[in-house]
Amino acid sequence: MKPRLHGRATACANIALAKYWGKSPLGNNLTATPSLSLTLDGLTTRTEVEFDASLSADRVVLNGVELSREEATRVSAVLDKLRARTPLTLFAHVRSLNTFPTAAGLASSASGFAALVLAASKALDLGLDAPEVSRLAREASASAARSVYGGYVELEREAVAATPLCSGAHFPLGMAVAVVEAGPKPVGSTSGMLHTARTSPYYQTWVAHAPDVYSRVKRAVLERDFATLADAVEHSALLMHSTMITSQPSVLYWKAGTVELLHAIVTRRKQGHPEAFTMDAGPNVKVLTPLEHLPQTAEFLRSVPGVRQVLSVTPGRGASLLSLDGPLEQAHEHPWLEGDPDS
Ligand code: PMV
Repeated sequence: MKPRLHGRATACANIALAKYWGKSPLGNNLTATPSLSLTLDGLTTRTEVEFDASLSADRVVLNGVELSREEATRVSAVLDKLRARTPLTLFAHVRSLNTFPTAAGLASSASGFAALVLAASKALDLGLDAPEVSRLAREASASAARSVYGGYVELEREAVAATPLCSGAHFPLGMAVAVVEAGPKPVGSTSGMLHTARTSPYYQTWVAHAPDVYSRVKRAVLERDFATLADAVEHSALLMHSTMITSQPSVLYWKAGTVELLHAIVTRRKQGHPEAFTMDAGPNVKVLTPLEHLPQTAEFLRSVPGVRQVLSVTPGRGASLLSLDGPLEQAHEHPWLEGDPDS
């Protein structure tokens, strides 16, 4: 009997404290700005890949729903790169489950592509190391490069792969995610970035300032300095959103509830609550706070009008392999990253 070409993996999502927004002119999905993120437990994807000689195209099922050939293009592009490293020409069944509510409208591409690359490379027995998995994940979705590692992770400007900075335990922070609006975002991050780069007069200013903000974020994380971190994290998100808002036509992700939350967090910090906001390509607001303060932050966010749901998430581990027996939902994790304190 031929061995099954079957692999399973899991990865956590991450949220950038210093944002990346913009592609490098060097191409190949390299980033124009450096970024630094925190990998977050509670926002995870489990993916299984099985190559199968009876298929005439890749079949991708995401949370129980089969994607059209067009929707599966980015997944097939990843599989093509891995297939190209083998003499095989087989297509694959891909099944992916997000353990966080997809209705929350949270980006799942980071955890999704990190888990996909690891599961598919395992199915093909390619023996890729973490930098190589991170590189391939980055080529699909740059933020996915960071989800390969746990804790605080950096992706330097134009770097081919992400690198771990320090464990989540070094500076134990959590995030409360305030969902203002569920559902798919009107403008995806890739097209949003290209559009802002082409049409916002502030885009070059953002690219010029981003390394400085990133350095402030990095220093504050290493020195466990929440006050400095809070200012730098908010500045990074606001600089990034300024390029979106000032593009033509404007990419305005913010809703009334988003603005309500920004005011509330600024006020609460003045009152002494260690909280800082950040936002990605969407209206939802993520509030960073020390772990011991997380329940209080989440409780407050639930009381803000316009907030539909609040998720509390804590530092997460790097990507890992899953056992092949039993249902994907219950498969056990196998350590894969050596020397990762968060594994
Ligand atoms: O990974 P992408 O290419 O979909 O871009 C994500 C960009 C932001 O989430 C807005 C910022 C970041 O650094 O994660």
